[in-house]
Amino acid sequence: MARILITSAIPYINGIKHLGNLVGSQLPADLFARYHRARGNEVMFICATDEHGTPAELAAAKAGKPVEEYCKEMHAVQSELADGFRLSFDHYGRSSSDRNHRLTQHFAGKLADAGLIEEVSETQVYSNADGRFLPDRYIEGTCPNCGSEDARGDQCEVCTKQLDPTDLINPRSAISGSTDLEVRDTKHLYLRQSTLKDKLDAWISSKTDWPILTTSIAKKWLHDGEGLRDRGITRDLDWGIPVKRGTENWPGMEGKVFYVWFDAPIEYIAATAEWADANGKVDADWERWWRTDKGADDVTYVQFMGKDNVPFHTLSFPATIMGSDEPWKLVDYIKSFNYLNYDGGQFSTSKGRGVFMDQALAILPSDYWRWWLLSHTPESSDSEFTWDDFQACVNSDLANVLGNFVSRVTKFCRSKFSEEIPAGNDYGPAEQAVIDALQTRLTAYETYMADMEIRKAASELRAIWSLGNEYLQEVAPWSVFKTDEAAAATQIRFALNLVPFYAALSEPFIPDAADALSDAMNTPLAWPENVAAAVNLLPVGHAFSVPEITFAKITDDARDEMQAKFAGDS
Ligand code: 2FM
Ligand code: ZN
Repeated sequence: MARILITSAIPYINGIKHLGNLVGSQLPADLFARYHRARGNEVMFICATDEHGTPAELAAAKAGKPVEEYCKEMHAVQSELADGFRLSFDHYGRSSSDRNHRLTQHFAGKLADAGLIEEVSETQVYSNADGRFLPDRYIEGTCPNCGSEDARGDQCEVCTKQLDPTDLINPRSAISGSTDLEVRDTKHLYLRQSTLKDKLDAWISSKTDWPILTTSIAKKWLHDGEGLRDRGITRDLDWGIPVKRGTENWPGMEGKVFYVWFDAPIEYIAATAEWADANGKVDADWERWWRTDKGADDVTYVQFMGKDNVPFHTLSFPATIMGSDEPWKLVDYIKSFNYLNYDGGQFSTSKGRGVFMDQALAILPSDYWRWWLLSHTPESSDSEFTWDDFQACVNSDLANVLGNFVSRVTKFCRSKFSEEIPAGNDYGPAEQAVIDALQTRLTAYETYMADMEIRKAASELRAIWSLGNEYLQEVAPWSVFKTDEAAAATQIRFALNLVPFYAALSEPFIPDAADALSDAMNTPLAWPENVAAAVNLLPVGHAFSVPEITFAKITDDARDEMQAKFAGDS
């Protein structure tokens, strides 16, 4: 039995995620976790909410709530939506947890002990009215280049010129609008990751099996000079993990917190410790996933994320792990994704453009979305959601192919025989041909699932479903029944046995439908050893019931209505 540790990039706390976010990490990670569990492997599947940083503080302020309360509430909202999409995390943690506080401070202490932390004095803009330092992008003013009055301290969006906050004419706080700003001295910690360049380079170069998308981004950042610059890992904010050196105070760092991107990936580890705490386990139970000196040397660790997250996971987080000089588990494989676009443009949170997780579940069951999203995962390039394609995909794959097959065979059996597997004869050449074709496809499907080739896996599964329909079309039991009841019974027994086979194979993609089919067939979900065994799983006389309608078709009117509803403000 293999041991597989799976993490999905942890979503920011501020706001409900759209379908593009979902398919960019959590959903494919769930597919992989479900597949490995089904194959009998031991899986630890971890996600969490990413709760620190200025955006979280500002979102809380906008909601008129203390930031802690806001994060707690939004965590509950995101957690419920994750359940709605059947994301099967072993634990959905919080980066603001006590475990993450301690672990982040621990890593900072170890990095300091290894001489990898430098204290740097800088100047930064302080807002007297807001009582806080302002990050560059929270200072606004007039662009010295084009005169736009809404330029930000890091860049003017109108003329795209890169700016320093001190370049702005009439600077003001983006938070309060106050112009009572001054430049103050402040001290920050920098992670000297540039000193780890050779080690990181050798490590990334050794990962010859990684997807090109992952390694190309990693190498670009590693070699273009910008990427591996020493990086400030502290901020002058109230909300976050207080800067400490292990359990000790860090002189000069009072009132400062760690940068959100320093503590977020550490939460992968901390969330596994949270899992232990929540389930009455001891430290050894989570450490066997993360510490190579405590049992994690036989773990395969796979991370899932959007392409924008790749630099942090191929350089910064490994720099933290390697620099600590402790035996923490490094990632073995990084599956990264391109972007999902929405109906001719981009998803936009601010314009309300596109479908968000809560809206999706309010319209249709999660399996419909899971199937479309996973079968259109943006793997080799960006992909696009259109309502036409969604409708066509659901109606054809789920309703016409899978749903129709199940409904035809179960109803036919009930009406002509009973709700029990009929006897008939031994299987003949027609059935053997289907067994052979299915076996070839099953082997390919298993390989694609293990290799995380998600679109290819989806198309194998679709082809596996189709073989059932083609068999029915070819042998036509409804005609055969008129002249040879035993032959028709054989065909129906064969087809009925394909239902639990389909349920088991489909479970990682469409878990609710898989459960409904396995309930109806009165047999637990079990991954088939091979097709020959699967088609003899249900013995003659085994009772089943006709499943409730599995997939309803999306009408043209419903499609048009949804398209208009989610078009956004502009
Ligand atoms: O891009 C994002 O949504 C980030 N919150 C991902 C963080 S992943 C990791 F570092 F934990
Ligand atoms: Zn400008």
